[in-house]
Amino acid sequence: MFAITGITGKVGGEVARNLLAGNQPVRAVVRDLRKGEPWAQLGCDLVRADINDAGALTSAFKGAESVFVLVPPNFDPSPDFHEARATATTLKSAIEAARPGRVVYLSTIGAQATQSNLLTQHTIIEQVLGELSMPITFLRPGWFMENCSWDVASATDDGVILSFLQPIDKPVPMVATADIGRVAAELLQEAWKGHRVVELEGPHRVTPHEIATTFADLLGRPVRMEPVPRETWESLFKSQGMKNPIPRIKMLDGFNEGWIEFEGAEAGSRKGKVGLQAVLQTLIELR
Ligand SMILES: NC(=O)c1ccc[n+]([C@@H]2O[C@H](COP(=O)([O-])OP(=O)(O)OC[C@H]3O[C@@H](n4cnc5c(N)ncnc54)[C@H](OP(=O)(O)O)[C@@H]3O)[C@@H](O)[C@H]2O)c1
Repeated sequence: MFAITGITGKVGGEVARNLLAGNQPVRAVVRDLRKGEPWAQLGCDLVRADINDAGALTSAFKGAESVFVLVPPNFDPSPDFHEARATATTLKSAIEAARPGRVVYLSTIGAQATQSNLLTQHTIIEQVLGELSMPITFLRPGWFMENCSWDVASATDDGVILSFLQPIDKPVPMVATADIGRVAAELLQEAWKGHRVVELEGPHRVTPHEIATTFADLLGRPVRMEPVPRETWESLFKSQGMKNPIPRIKMLDGFNEGWIEFEGAEAGSRKGKVGLQAVLQTLIELR
């Protein structure tokens, strides 16, 4: 049996769909049983556990051949990242107590970076889980193509997309969540020893400019990408309600300056199959 956290979200849902398509038994780990009901109807065992509840996670992970661990995104962490440290400790104690056969942890591109930024949350969790003796895969995907869901309305209605990724002709390692889910489901079913890192991006790197031209093709209207000046980010993010925008700004700097990159660079990463056009088409249809 495979225990899947984050199953009501994008990646977790894809992982579960891939396992179910292969007739594998899935335990859906949800924080709200009502939201998990569609998964129960698909034949999943349904259990409730918050990512910060060690006791509930221990029960949820017990008896699992492999566990898929997804930590919900926190775009506005405290300056000392204490939320990630607490989650790391909780996860470690639950995995230690439940002793599943193997663990696949959804991390991120750039988890090895030494400069503090938003992704440091995954660096912290990787380090703490790295103290466990069981087989663990740290799956590090690139920037999700589905982040473009934030741009569908402005592309469609105004023909303008604001870009924090700059310069807009710089290729960025991006990946579709469908590829992450497919690869994660494969990894969960593999046998391996010790700890390993798997880095994953899409078939080719994507520039912000290409996002605009692809939207333009799909929408049948001109769409242009407009870089947001770096000096305005802090006040902009604060005006949007962020308390501590620095980690997010540093993460964007890391992509733009190239120090958020795969350990094995482009040559060393696995390549997915799903391209930008297919992802944007779906996002437009979902609007
Ligand atoms: N976006 C990117 O470019 C990118 C790149 C690399 C890595 N990542 C990482 O990918 C992960 C996000 O994946 P995603 O986009 O698939 O997430 P998502 O669609 O936002 O889904 C989040 C999932 O976490 C669940 N969740 C939220 N709070 C929870 C809690 N307190 N306890 C238990 N479960 C909780 C949600 O359940 P509900 O349905 O109940 O809310 C949902 O199933 C993050 O760790 C992020 O850092 C993202």
